[in-house]
Amino acid sequence: MCGITARIGDDDSLEDLLVSLKNLEYRGYDSAGIAVQNGTGIEIDKCEGEVSELQAELATKDHDGPIGIGHTRWSTHGPPTDANAHPHTGCKGRVVAVHNGIIENYTTLREGLQARGHEFTSDTDTEVIPHLVEERLDAGFEAEAAFRDAIAELDGSYAIAMIIDGDPAVYATRNGSPLVVGVGDDANYLASDVPAFLEFTDRVVYLEDDDVAVITADDYRVTDTKGDAVSRPVETVEWDSEDAEKGGYDHYMLKEIHEQPVALRQTIHGRIEGEDVVLEEFPPGTFTDIDRVHFVACGTSYHAGMYGEWLLSKWGIDASTFIASEYAAYPAPVDEGTLVIGVTQSGETADTLEALESARKRGARTLALTNVIGSTAARTCDDALFIRAGPEIGVAATKTFSSQVATLVLLGERLVRDMTAEPTDECRQRLDALESLPEHIETVIEDSRAAAISERWLGDDGHFFIGRGNAYPVALEGALKFKEITYEHAEGFAAGELKHGPLALVTEETPVFAIGTGQYPKRLESNVREIQTRGAPVIAVAPRTATDLADTADEALSVPATHPDLVAILANVQLQLIAYHAADEMERSIDKPRNLAKSVTVE
Ligand code: F6R
Repeated sequence: MCGITARIGDDDSLEDLLVSLKNLEYRGYDSAGIAVQNGTGIEIDKCEGEVSELQAELATKDHDGPIGIGHTRWSTHGPPTDANAHPHTGCKGRVVAVHNGIIENYTTLREGLQARGHEFTSDTDTEVIPHLVEERLDAGFEAEAAFRDAIAELDGSYAIAMIIDGDPAVYATRNGSPLVVGVGDDANYLASDVPAFLEFTDRVVYLEDDDVAVITADDYRVTDTKGDAVSRPVETVEWDSEDAEKGGYDHYMLKEIHEQPVALRQTIHGRIEGEDVVLEEFPPGTFTDIDRVHFVACGTSYHAGMYGEWLLSKWGIDASTFIASEYAAYPAPVDEGTLVIGVTQSGETADTLEALESARKRGARTLALTNVIGSTAARTCDDALFIRAGPEIGVAATKTFSSQVATLVLLGERLVRDMTAEPTDECRQRLDALESLPEHIETVIEDSRAAAISERWLGDDGHFFIGRGNAYPVALEGALKFKEITYEHAEGFAAGELKHGPLALVTEETPVFAIGTGQYPKRLESNVREIQTRGAPVIAVAPRTATDLADTADEALSVPATHPDLVAILANVQLQLIAYHAADEMERSIDKPRNLAKSVTVE
């Protein structure tokens, strides 16, 4: 997965292109490149490494022009090298393209082009695109016709932006990868995602699969594959560019941890009225035909799905969670009474999209629970419910997890009312607690001792996270966050499972974070003692009222007491801070951990 961008105006484009590339680095950062057209040809600069390295290289040159495209890469075909960095050209340097996705039939296309005399300079699948277009231009096609005819040859998923020497337009198309046009006053933009150009315009046009966009300095046109005009509305996004910047924090991750109270207020806003949940998209009775819920998701979103499963099961609804990449191969029965909920922050995770598609084909009803309006999941599912967390730039998901779980609480309340029963007193208490959650998170962040604790309890042999019930997905999430940004070994377990094997790994150098919710206290305390007997230090992460657990443990990180169904969300914030501070002490690349990218659009 990669980030692509373009800018076309009457003035020079390089500065804006570099800003957009920086904003897109969360999609990939193993190489970067730009191409600008300036009336005397197209200049291409690209290199292995981050956008800052490209920027340094460009500082020594005089490359600029009014029409430009840019790319930040996360390798899929060919290692990260200067040669494999985008943009790519045909043999004559006349056609230049950037691409996000995978061209599945590139081997056949490449062999055909080579047989017809084309020479390739990279290992990428992308390079076939400019060669195919060049071939058509040589055969006398007009620019747009050459682009259309070339992309008709491609199988796979892609978002493409292309420029041609001497031609005053950017050509773009998408199939399964996101692409959005930014409509500015003095220039027009194109990117994989809105934050890329949010500094320059908030007016956007989301492209759909198979759209072909021709963008000029003062206009844009969208057509279908046959060339017929299609109408795509111009929408105004409510995020401002501040939301997508670091705002004084050292890292996006820390900023986004601190943004959780605001994000949650947005998530909940207008969705609770008295005893009722008001989901505009889902009036009462929407789910009366549903008798079973499946969650499909990856990584952090999978943990949010597990949390949702726990809530629904507790409320009497048949619910299960599946790792999205396994779902298509999993023989779980699905029918028209099954609601399959894709939990996906980006709405672009290929494994989740594939799972949703497999459910749809088998007759299930699909729902995207996502942060990104206009994302593929939101557009391809039967329904979408937005978590409204605002843009998340740090690769490690933080505020989106909290907003996902809060949205699942709201959706759960709708489901429980439609599928089983009238609201109970407990529903009312839970909704009250949900409304107080932003305030409680503020308290957790203000009072947290995570920085001191993470310094004191860094283990040589690993870090374990344990919990029961809704604290179990949070244990998994705590471990995922810790390992992904510290690169230290961390595992999450159901608290009762440790004694069935993993206890063998516990030493004095294996700190264990025990997450308490106030439910099942005695059992958790006995698990803690089993661990301490093996010499490992235990840090309790639990509500203030769980004094027995705190007293048993070697150290405690407390959270405000609230409804037990929600308290694990607060514990998770403490674990986010533990992971953040440990990684910071180790001087890790917190916002862009090695080998990872924000949006995984390959299977
Ligand atoms: C971990 C993380 C990933 C994502 C996963 C799914 O911090 O961010 O595990 O949760 O790649 O991404 P989405 O939610 O965009 O489908």
